Amino acid sequence: MKVLVVGGGGREHTILWKLAQSPQKPELFAAPGNGGIAKLAKCVDIKATDVEGVVKFAKENQIDLTVVAPDDPLMLGMVDRLEEAGLKAFGPRQNAAIIEGSKVFSKELMKKYGIPTAAYEVFDDSAKAISYLEGVSYPTVVKAEGLALGKGVIIAANFEEAKAAVEEIMCDKVFGDAGSRVVIEEFLTGQEVSVLAFTDGKTLYPMVSAQDHKRAYDNDEGLNTGGMGTFSPSRLYTEAIHNECMENIFMPTMKAMNQEGRTFKGVLYFGLIMTKNGVKVIEYNARFGDPETQVVLPRLKTDLLEIFLAVAEERLGEMTVEWADNAAVCVVMASGGYPKEYKKGLPISGLDIAEADEAITVFHAGTKLDGETFLTNGGRVLGVTAVGNDLEAAILKAYEGVKKIHFDNVHYRTDIGRKKETI
Ligand code: AMP
Ligand code: GLY
Repeated sequence: MKVLVVGGGGREHTILWKLAQSPQKPELFAAPGNGGIAKLAKCVDIKATDVEGVVKFAKENQIDLTVVAPDDPLMLGMVDRLEEAGLKAFGPRQNAAIIEGSKVFSKELMKKYGIPTAAYEVFDDSAKAISYLEGVSYPTVVKAEGLALGKGVIIAANFEEAKAAVEEIMCDKVFGDAGSRVVIEEFLTGQEVSVLAFTDGKTLYPMVSAQDHKRAYDNDEGLNTGGMGTFSPSRLYTEAIHNECMENIFMPTMKAMNQEGRTFKGVLYFGLIMTKNGVKVIEYNARFGDPETQVVLPRLKTDLLEIFLAVAEERLGEMTVEWADNAAVCVVMASGGYPKEYKKGLPISGLDIAEADEAITVFHAGTKLDGETFLTNGGRVLGVTAVGNDLEAAILKAYEGVKKIHFDNVHYRTDIGRKKETI
């Protein structure tokens, strides 16, 4: 069986690493892949957003299953185009991926179906948005409607900051068309937990929970990043909370999408916040999270390829999905300067030494192969991941791995996995 994974970051490396363990022994391809992925799969030089290029490649090479991992190609309708060409794909169609692609859509869905989320208002006129901001309490949250590379959310401490955010989004169009409408929403406090779920629209199986660390520096200081590390499980995500989420959030969301004629097939990602008034949805994503995937998939006992096929063929309910009762931690090693400017092309050493320990796997986020040497090729370079019997063991193991790996000007957080347990 030939399987193509679209994308080229740590998430895609993890998906391919798991697929490589399948008893079905698939032949693996990646578009475009990266240095680490090249060790597992044949990397083809097609951009993840090149819909026609991916469809053409999948057709010509008789790919049996294409897994579309990143948000952009999902929003562009890559799954629709693959299916129209008679090819099997894993991921939501464009009309369902909108649950991530439009914040206005997702907020209205939650309101209509009574799914708990922050109170909000939508504006397509900047003057009206600004006059509304005069009456809200602060901090408040201003969001650009569409995809803005995770940067379209501004937590404004006061009216001036909120007004400036609306002007940047709606008048200066710093996020382009993503900013034709804004959502202004109530600021919620609490820890965030991510729960990803496999669903074929009939059955929904949540994966084990995870938490990420978004800020660049220890103690959650510094700029927001794409994620500096993750751990699984979350200490906060108890069985009682899980049951609450199944009943009030997960199943209602799957059913709501069906009711809207937008059946969601793929991985539905619930970004949750644990507030004093119960669990609420902060955001939905239409895909695996990065770097959540790096700590969730190593705990999966079931064959991932079988799950992907079952979702694509709408028979997920016929199988069970099992998880290990252990823990995993991923520490991101970034290039100094990230998320601002950083260097590329720096040689990386010590990977073999770190990976000699079977509890440690290094997922490549931004690397390329130069002969036999890996070079840095992005801001987030590696996700050093370890499994252990519990979080403490996994944390210690992951940092043992990190200490064996070197490149110039490396930056990583030293407190991954150590979030406080209070709500
Ligand atoms: P989003 O793109 O909607 O997930 O927002 C990105 C991040 O902004 C979230 O992960 C939260 O940390 C923060 N955020 C978004 N909405 C809220 C809110 N209503 N209250 C507090 N923080 C928020
Ligand atoms: N880690 C957050 C995301 O993948 O969107």
